Amino acid sequence: MRVVFDIGGSVLVPDEPDIDFIKKIAYQLTKISEDHEVAVVVGGGKVAREYIKAAKTFTPNETFKDYIGIHITRANAMLLIAALGEKAYPFVVQDFRKAWEVMQVKKIPIMGGTHPGHTTDAVAALLAEYLQADLLVVITNVDGVYDSDPRKNPNARKLAKITTQKLVEIAMQGESKAGGSGVVDALAAKFIERGKIKTIIVGKEDAIRLFDVIKGIHNGTLVVP
Ligand code: UTP
Repeated sequence: MRVVFDIGGSVLVPDEPDIDFIKKIAYQLTKISEDHEVAVVVGGGKVAREYIKAAKTFTPNETFKDYIGIHITRANAMLLIAALGEKAYPFVVQDFRKAWEVMQVKKIPIMGGTHPGHTTDAVAALLAEYLQADLLVVITNVDGVYDSDPRKNPNARKLAKITTQKLVEIAMQGESKAGGSGVVDALAAKFIERGKIKTIIVGKEDAIRLFDVIKGIHNGTLVVP
């Protein structure tokens, strides 16, 4: 099986890098890569948000701030490369075709951001589409997709299985505010729909059992075309 993992920056670097979590993730990715092809995309987390906030003082240029965000995602990617050691390609991969090439030599390609204007969720969805992955696993700070924002609505229900169209609908609702109720951004949801990508969205607890997750055993949300 070919699997793309999308590791949210807020999971990897909540306040500061979660070393214990990075160790666990690296161990699992290494083990999974013995039987499967693995590619990874890493997000920016709190550090990216803080740099972007600081940059607002100096410039209104959104694209410029996106470039700052991309740099931070790549620093996080370097951290995961360090944790994976020999198993990872030693440079942060910046192109989907390069990711494919790296997989051919049995190394794990690690990507951060690519271009301004979207988040690493969109990068992961495009990578999964480009690689024709069998599965995209999104690890985020919410433990699945809810019918409304669980942080605002105590009656919000987690959805065990939804279609890619439903994911787009839900992601569009959360779009008005960054990181709103949508666990993935709307653009990523559209790419998942377009690429007909089977996706599993899980939280940090499931993330330390990725062996089970890729077999379909998890408490998150399965998204099917
Ligand atoms: P993230 O993918 O981490 O954004 O990229 P996010 O979803 O807001 O954060 P977490 O990690 O899930 O908490 C951080 C920022 O980097 C820029 C954007 O500004 C984004 O908000 N970025 C990232 C890009 O412009 N292009 C990319 O391909 C990736």
